[in-house]
Amino acid sequence: MQKICIIGLGYIGLPTAAVFARAGYDVVGVDVNKKVIELLNKGEIIIEENGLPEVVKEAVESGKLRASLEPEAADAFIVAVPTPVHADHTANVDYVVSAVEKIVPHVKKGDVVIVESTIPPRTIDDVVAPIFKEAGFDPEKDIHLAHCPERVLPGRILIELVENARIVGGLTPEAAEKAADVYRRVVTGDILVTEAVTAEMSKLMENTFRDVNIALANELSKICGVLGVDAHKVIELANRHPRVNLHQPGPGVGGHCLAVDPYFIVEKAPAEAQIIKMSRDINNSMPDYVVDQIVRMTGDIERPTVALFGLTYKGNIDDVRESPAIEIVEKMIENPRFNVRVHDPHVRDEQVSFPLSSFEEAVADAHLIVILADHNEFKQLDQHTLVSKMARPVVFDTKNCTGLQNTNGLTVHKIGDLRGLS
Ligand SMILES: NC(=O)c1ccc[n+]([C@@H]2O[C@H](COP(=O)([O-])OP(=O)(O)OC[C@H]3O[C@@H](n4cnc5c(N)ncnc54)[C@H](O)[C@@H]3O)[C@@H](O)[C@H]2O)c1
Repeated sequence: MQKICIIGLGYIGLPTAAVFARAGYDVVGVDVNKKVIELLNKGEIIIEENGLPEVVKEAVESGKLRASLEPEAADAFIVAVPTPVHADHTANVDYVVSAVEKIVPHVKKGDVVIVESTIPPRTIDDVVAPIFKEAGFDPEKDIHLAHCPERVLPGRILIELVENARIVGGLTPEAAEKAADVYRRVVTGDILVTEAVTAEMSKLMENTFRDVNIALANELSKICGVLGVDAHKVIELANRHPRVNLHQPGPGVGGHCLAVDPYFIVEKAPAEAQIIKMSRDINNSMPDYVVDQIVRMTGDIERPTVALFGLTYKGNIDDVRESPAIEIVEKMIENPRFNVRVHDPHVRDEQVSFPLSSFEEAVADAHLIVILADHNEFKQLDQHTLVSKMARPVVFDTKNCTGLQNTNGLTVHKIGDLRGLS
């Protein structure tokens, strides 16, 4: 096995291509985006990821990695294109279908075809295999078809691509083994061989586990709000049980994995996936819950100025995809009662459809600051500065990250601890 063709050069496909090239494979990366191709052939990239520019540059200069708009013959093909959800929360596998259709004319008997994109259960069996059947292949005998999901953490992709355990699910046991061989040259973590559908479900359940547990924490925070209890203290104490690990509440769940993947299961087994569906609903309800609390906190002011801090779905990144903070900002802007200011030091103007303010502009004469992302900048907010600049020094910390205290003229509310609110 010498040559690999990788379809989709985004956050997953590009680092994968670079790491495989570094390990000695001849790699051709394919994308529909011309700019990505032109830049990559010069050794340059558009995505941000620690260490990636250097690894890509070296791989391109060594001649082991190049980019093309069209696939070409190879020993193995890896598909890493997006799998978003439609507006009705059903999976959109059109990119996967189109990528597979594009490689079919270049695949020969004995080749390995791997889908790395996160896909609904049975997609390899019911969607991908039939495309090869239609093209005259016996998908169980002529080729080795597998799903190998990715579980890397942005920021650590180059490390985790190599060190994480990998699940390799084959359409047949032989396909799983052949696909596992592709990774063995690169991956130092365990390679766990199974069936395609089991691999599909395992990946989805990893993110579903986290979504359901965050929903439980969010539900706890609402219950504590009604009962006048501090949910954070409850979590701290309950987690001293050796087998309990309650998660943290927040303003909702965002990103293109946790907020998306559970729907792939709900779609396939709607009657059975009760907790999973309800967890999505609970997490989706959090932006409204946050806005309701903002209304309560400012009910006595005719036109309150509210400064919303943080737009990304998690701290210290610039990614606003599916972010609940964006939904909260939009709901606040729609409400004519509020004078809204939005501040996020990690987000650029062109990423959003509303104006952004500097820290100074946002804080000046504000009646309330709402923390929606746990950026380091917000963890270090200075109590004295807030008290001196705000019209009414009140902070609503939905991430429980600031460390600000209910002292020296400042009032602090938290999701999960609204005891000071009448
Ligand atoms: N980014 C992550 O942290 C992460 C983690 C685990 C799993 N995943 C999964 O990996 C898959 C890819 O995600 P990503 O973050 O790399 O996406 P991405 O949007 O960063 O990149 C996808 C790339 O595919 C290209 N593309 C789309 N259709 C194409 C086609 N038909 N032919 C060739 N190229 C095409 C796009 O132009 C883009 O460059 C998704 O299924 C995602 O859910 C992502």
